[in-house]
Amino acid sequence: MTSSSKFLRSLTGEISAIPPIWFMRQAGRYLPEYRKLREEAGSFLDLCYNPAMASEVTLQPVRRYDLDAAILFADILLIPDAMGQKLSFEAGEGPILEPVITSKNLDAFRSRDIHETLAPVYETVKQTRAGLGDDKALIGFAGGPWTVATYMMNGRSSRDPSALRNIYYEDRPFLSALIDSLVEYTIEYLNRQIKAGADAVQLFDTWASGLPWPVLDAVSVRPLQKIAAGVKNAHPETPVILFPKGVGEKATEYATLPECDGLGIDYAMDAAWARANLAGHTVIQGALDPLSVITGGDDMLKGASAYLKLFHDTPYIFNLGHGFSPETPPEHVGQLVEFIRGGDW
Ligand code: CP3
Repeated sequence: MTSSSKFLRSLTGEISAIPPIWFMRQAGRYLPEYRKLREEAGSFLDLCYNPAMASEVTLQPVRRYDLDAAILFADILLIPDAMGQKLSFEAGEGPILEPVITSKNLDAFRSRDIHETLAPVYETVKQTRAGLGDDKALIGFAGGPWTVATYMMNGRSSRDPSALRNIYYEDRPFLSALIDSLVEYTIEYLNRQIKAGADAVQLFDTWASGLPWPVLDAVSVRPLQKIAAGVKNAHPETPVILFPKGVGEKATEYATLPECDGLGIDYAMDAAWARANLAGHTVIQGALDPLSVITGGDDMLKGASAYLKLFHDTPYIFNLGHGFSPETPPEHVGQLVEFIRGGDW
């Protein structure tokens, strides 16, 4: 049966005159309707763990812009939170995880039933799916194990997350054990999202950038492949999209994985290179510079036009090359969607 979702059809290889559209961080602080609910919820985490509110926030951008897909409102750091590493967000500080994970306390975090804490997320998926038309897809997601591990090991955002790779040389058994646990937890987390109604899943490996081979292979390519395989084992029909940010030509290693249905490329990737070297292996998603949408106008439209022209004859999903910033004017997003749908690029 063909899907009524353009986004899902594109992931099975359909080429459409106007590609499906969704945006990373499409729900969030740039939208006034988000800020209102976020204030009512109290904290960002209270919002993530409140299914009625989280599903409303998930639906807000789809309603406002008639996007082709919704992305579950949650965070990649909910898994560490559920593992017992308490997560909080401080204004101007970003995420804080306590206590910092080390080889000495790792075992305490490895045998948790994370799904009790994460149950509200599955309920959010269920309520969101019920609120979406058949023509709209719901994307579930999780963080890549390396990206999540950088926050777990540092306790907060790092100025240079790739510098944490020293642990690969200093204590590889600890790093492998942490990554393996995250792989196991993430497979089950995504499978439960799919059971609750997610139509596709995306893995965000934001801090894959700056890692030399074979570190990248060990902490990003193989773990993402294992997760994708674990998902496909339980749900063979559910597409898996990988977003390894900043990996340059090493994107080939992800695009050629048999488990990779779609590959998110970032704004710094040479798009013509991606068209020539990646598009034959997987469906490309991306990669407009989100900062061009803050300024809007010609740079935003010409940027979008370049991607649309380059990928018009291959299965393609329009997106950003990373998430929207809070300063993005919502009307620019509206203009962008109208421009893409207008077809006059
Ligand atoms: O894309 C979406 O709309 C879905 C929801 C989503 C969020 N975070 C909501 C969020 C997704 C997919 C993420 C992924 C995520 N979270 C990543 C990987 C992708 C990326 O953007 O690089 C990372 C590294 C995180 C960790 C994280 N969560 C950070 C660094 C921050 C920013 C802290 C800050 O104060 O700006 C968050 C918070 C967060 N996650 C917000 C949102 C909407 C802002 C929270 C708020 O409302 O204050």
